[in-house]
Amino acid sequence: MVDIRCSGLRYARCRPSPLTPFAKDLTMCGIVGYVGRRDATSYLLTGLQRLEYRGYDSAGIATLRSSDSIRVIKVAGRVAELETEVRRRAIDGDVPASLGIGHTRWATHGPATPENAHPHLGGNGLVAVVHNGVIENFENLKEELSDKGYRFASQTDSEVIAHLIADGVQQLAGDGSLTIQHCIEAVQQTIARLRGTYGLAILFREFDDLLIAARCGSPLVIGVGKNEQFIASDTSPLVGATERIIYLADHQIAVVRPDSIQVLHRDQGRIRPEIQALNNDSQEVQLEGYEHYMLKEIYEQPKSIQNALRGRIDHDNATAKFGGLNLTTGQLRAVQRIILTGCGTSWHSALVGEYLIEELARIPVEVEYASELRYRNPPIDPGTIIFGITQSGETADTLAALREMKRKGHPTLAICNVIGSSIAQEADGGIYLHAGPEIGVASTKAFTSQLTVLAMLALYFGRLRHVSFEAGQRIIAQLERLPAIVEQALACHEQVREIAKKYYQATNFLYLGRKYNFPTALEGALKLKEISYIHAEGYPAAEMKHGPIALVDEHTPSVFIVPQGTVYDKVLSNLQEVKARGGPVISVVDHDDPHVAKLSDDVIHVPSIEDFLQPIVASVPLQLLAYEIALLRGCDVDKPRNLAKSVTVE
Ligand code: G6P
Repeated sequence: MVDIRCSGLRYARCRPSPLTPFAKDLTMCGIVGYVGRRDATSYLLTGLQRLEYRGYDSAGIATLRSSDSIRVIKVAGRVAELETEVRRRAIDGDVPASLGIGHTRWATHGPATPENAHPHLGGNGLVAVVHNGVIENFENLKEELSDKGYRFASQTDSEVIAHLIADGVQQLAGDGSLTIQHCIEAVQQTIARLRGTYGLAILFREFDDLLIAARCGSPLVIGVGKNEQFIASDTSPLVGATERIIYLADHQIAVVRPDSIQVLHRDQGRIRPEIQALNNDSQEVQLEGYEHYMLKEIYEQPKSIQNALRGRIDHDNATAKFGGLNLTTGQLRAVQRIILTGCGTSWHSALVGEYLIEELARIPVEVEYASELRYRNPPIDPGTIIFGITQSGETADTLAALREMKRKGHPTLAICNVIGSSIAQEADGGIYLHAGPEIGVASTKAFTSQLTVLAMLALYFGRLRHVSFEAGQRIIAQLERLPAIVEQALACHEQVREIAKKYYQATNFLYLGRKYNFPTALEGALKLKEISYIHAEGYPAAEMKHGPIALVDEHTPSVFIVPQGTVYDKVLSNLQEVKARGGPVISVVDHDDPHVAKLSDDVIHVPSIEDFLQPIVASVPLQLLAYEIALLRGCDVDKPRNLAKSVTVE
């Protein structure tokens, strides 16, 4: 990753050429590719493992040894199974492959089977292709190719690309021999016919030193090496392989050979790519002794929150400062309304953000699911700015919602973790979380960093308006306590582990909180659902009597977030209502609280902090509770079923 420590200026500088068409956007899945002198297979398998966090259900590789046919191995399952299959099919005395592409697939068109897994071969093994994205006009193309005699082995939209390229090279070469120029032209002709989105890596049977990569709406990075080059759909497979990278932009293709990389743009022809430094601490993608990434990331929160704060507190003016908003102070002071949008956990952050900004800055805020905002056509007044909140920066709905808002002339900003991601590049400005790579599918440290950034943003807007210097100082003092307070909150782990043992067999959970801790309740319930597969609902505690209270019985635990503060008494009476109906109660408190203790079956203590920062602290035990329950139920914590880290399909 490129380090842009707290400036965020890259938001403006590395914006890609024209925006991709407002199409169906991207898909999850991961791509790797290698060309060079080393053993391609081992890079491909390690790279695919590093991409596992994105979520997938099948995997495959295609490799080529000089004057051999393309070998494809695919499995419906994990990369570990692919590795076993690769070993099983290894041929004694084989020279290592110098070239290969690999893929992890998250099924969209057709179920997770070896046939539907990538790579796909085109034209009887003339080319092999891996594809991220969705081809919307694949049915027409498939019909046309079938009429020409091409046979399809899969139900995917991607296979048409392989056959189209194969068809192209055969036509271009005619009776003569195939050249690299033919391959490039065949790819260009093919992508000109595709409607939708793609990140592609392609290899050709006739060339054991050539890969072609192409991008439109689905990220691709080229790793620049010495006598070897790499391709990947994000930077994680490149860590340790190279320190120099090229982000491919939309409508670019890269002709990648062991000692050269040529980048061609659809409209501008050959261009000189900008080589950037890959500044990714490989430590951060290692488990470092933790059993799971999720646990490691929960424990990293004191550090990730510190990183979100670093360089952004302006003591002299009792405010926060951001280098990458790319709006003048005058423009920011003139903001009349803010829309916060996102998906999943990031949408929960937006809900906290609404409370924070409205309370501290007195600016009206609306929170929208990005998946709704992109298709609704709400009237939006001038003076409205939109923040897309996203860990990955690749969520298709968030990207599309921001594009739609941008098209209508509103400034779009991102609160994003992954540097150089699509949303970071396309937004007009933004704030990076600097939380480091988040690998566990269930978001933890990104959530608390988002809340930290939103609190600073609320302070910043507040100080542009009515918040006094003294009030700004008090807010800063609370913000600066956060890393230490979250460190102390982690001490509840042992207590949470014991509580998990009592309740892990429950089939329903309720999570209840009010005001700032209503979104905390939603997030707690989401964590449990995601990784333990227990049905859980989060509610504003008072809403419970309008329906969910009917679920309360002796088998349904209710988790109450009940720290001291303005709504403490109210939450306490909601808690009594549950207790009166025989429901087990687990309470999260920030004081030795005899009232709550008397009514609760189990109490979790966290340190006390001002109410606007409570969601950050109270989330810690809820993350740990979900983690411990998932472990006891034997669930795959880091790679829960059906979920993906980065949801790049609609
Ligand atoms: C997926 C992940 C969630 C995440 C959501 C939004 O569903 O599993 O953990 O909250 O996408 O992702 P983003 O990267 O935009 O924050």
